[in-house]
Amino acid sequence: MAEKAKIAVLVSGGGTNLQALIDAERSGIIDSGEIVLVISNNEGAYALERAEKAGIEAHAVTKRAHGGQAGFEAAVRELLDSKGIDLIVLAGFLSILSEDFVKHYDHRIINIHPALIPSFCGPGYYGLKPHIAALERGVKVTGATVHYVNEIADGGEIISQKAVYIQDGDTPETLQRRVMEEAEWIILPQAVADICRGIVGA
Ligand code: GRF
Repeated sequence: MAEKAKIAVLVSGGGTNLQALIDAERSGIIDSGEIVLVISNNEGAYALERAEKAGIEAHAVTKRAHGGQAGFEAAVRELLDSKGIDLIVLAGFLSILSEDFVKHYDHRIINIHPALIPSFCGPGYYGLKPHIAALERGVKVTGATVHYVNEIADGGEIISQKAVYIQDGDTPETLQRRVMEEAEWIILPQAVADICRGIVGA
């Protein structure tokens, strides 16, 4: 095994979780892994600029340019395999991957979800939706979950979770921000660091 595990990060939007991973690699929290590839399914994603600023190879791979889901996944697999990727991190990646794709990379794909699974998760719970649902249900605690990705949306083995308290006056936007700051940006880099140490046998 190489000295460091090779990490690919798949993104769709702003890329604050990608930034947290880049910062964690720089600060040494991720000491056994290296982000070598960023792929966005959205060519306008600001996450692509974050990758470029950090000197990481970045590609936009769209379904439109590849004639749909099968061509898109084939192009993504080609990139991942050409780089010898050990760990695939879905960090705000909004495209659903096929059963065939996730089975091919069994226990090598992880995702961050902005709620405490099994609450507010599964099909349709992306973006602000988990936070809207948490506030509507009146829960007092929410949070974030890092989990392995399998063929069931948000259904894979849970790796880590962190709780975040709801505050009076929270809106979906304020809650989303606090869940990111207090949970996502902490537990995702930590999970990546731990998994990479396991991969390289450190
Ligand atoms: C995060 O809340 C993440 O948990 C969810 O989508 C959002 C992505 O944000 N899956 P960013 O692109 O990392 O800023």
